[in-house]
Amino acid sequence: MKKKLIRNTVAKFEKEFGAPPENLFLAPGRINIIGEHVDYNNGFVLPAAINKYICFAVSESHSNQCSIIAIDLNEKFTFSLDNPINPATIMWPNYMLGVLAQFIEKQMPVKGFNLAFSSTIPMGAGLSSSAAVECGFGYAMNKMFSLGLTNAEIAVTGQKAEHTFAGVNCGIMDQFASVFGKKNKVIKLDCDTLEHEYHNADFRNYALLLLDSKVKHTHLTSGYNDRRRETERGLSIVKEHCPYVNNFRDCTEVQLLELREKLGEVSFRRCHFVVKEIQRVLDAVDALDNSDFLRLGRLMTETHHGLSKEYEVSCAEIDFLVETALKEKSVLGARMMGGGFGGCAICLVEKDKVDHIIETVSSAYSDNFGIALEPYKIKISKGTSVHKM
Ligand code: GLA
Repeated sequence: MKKKLIRNTVAKFEKEFGAPPENLFLAPGRINIIGEHVDYNNGFVLPAAINKYICFAVSESHSNQCSIIAIDLNEKFTFSLDNPINPATIMWPNYMLGVLAQFIEKQMPVKGFNLAFSSTIPMGAGLSSSAAVECGFGYAMNKMFSLGLTNAEIAVTGQKAEHTFAGVNCGIMDQFASVFGKKNKVIKLDCDTLEHEYHNADFRNYALLLLDSKVKHTHLTSGYNDRRRETERGLSIVKEHCPYVNNFRDCTEVQLLELREKLGEVSFRRCHFVVKEIQRVLDAVDALDNSDFLRLGRLMTETHHGLSKEYEVSCAEIDFLVETALKEKSVLGARMMGGGFGGCAICLVEKDKVDHIIETVSSAYSDNFGIALEPYKIKISKGTSVHKM
């Protein structure tokens, strides 16, 4: 699939621009084992890059003209570096323009380019295709024009592009995972400091299976930004009463229970989820390191209940997928993954039962919702990179 993606991207580039590309880059999508909606709440997360990619074919244009071809959409976007970079009326160029605008603002030596890109990361499935666009593009510009950025700076630039040009106030998890991914490793990331460590993604007799609900979402309208506002408000109330609490990881369940009335029910539920989820990530890392998959699975399922009932970012389709999967003895844990309101469920399942689970859940899902489930068997892969031609 990766080879085909690269071949196709190169061929389209050549057809459009009349010569083969000088550079090729690959930026992966991501999964997240556990730690949902805690990146922007200064918690820990446990993501990994996967073997689904966006491929960028890029050459210098030797002028101030820039052309971007979205191969999968069959659309072209052109602009000149002589003009200010503003958000476009169509969404897809904004993930790159938002990155470029920051480089230009910092007077970095970017030049005109011709670019074609294509993807095997499904869009709106919660696998962070937008972070892969931002980071792959930032990485490409950094390499081609020697901008001197570190990988962490590339990730942060991608996140800011999402805030400023796409209107989603996301955390840092997706961009960080796309850039920092390593083959067969999950990343324990401290979203407060960006300190991170790699842990072996060795699931022994188990495998991670993604079930795509095919319910598409965009976090511009999904309620994602509201959740962020709600927890920020909640935290400021906690801080007022507990001055030594700096962020959610200093805060205990007992403190929240004491402040329940002051917080109000909704805010209490949101904050309660965050405090419990931060601890669950630490417990999950311990479970993974000790190959305690029963415990890891249980923690993932607890996360789902929190996301569904307390944080309220799941939807009927994902709840159904999780519940149906969990009826199978061979499923140790299941939960919605990513921002929510659609997208994928991630399940920890016995390796040799994967196909059986896909069959069972698919048929129940199609009976109940009339939707054809799309399963993904993923591999944990390396982060954004140059692809040698
Ligand atoms: C989206 C955001 C991330 C993160 C997740 C939820 O993927 O882009 O920053 O908040 O949702 O964990």
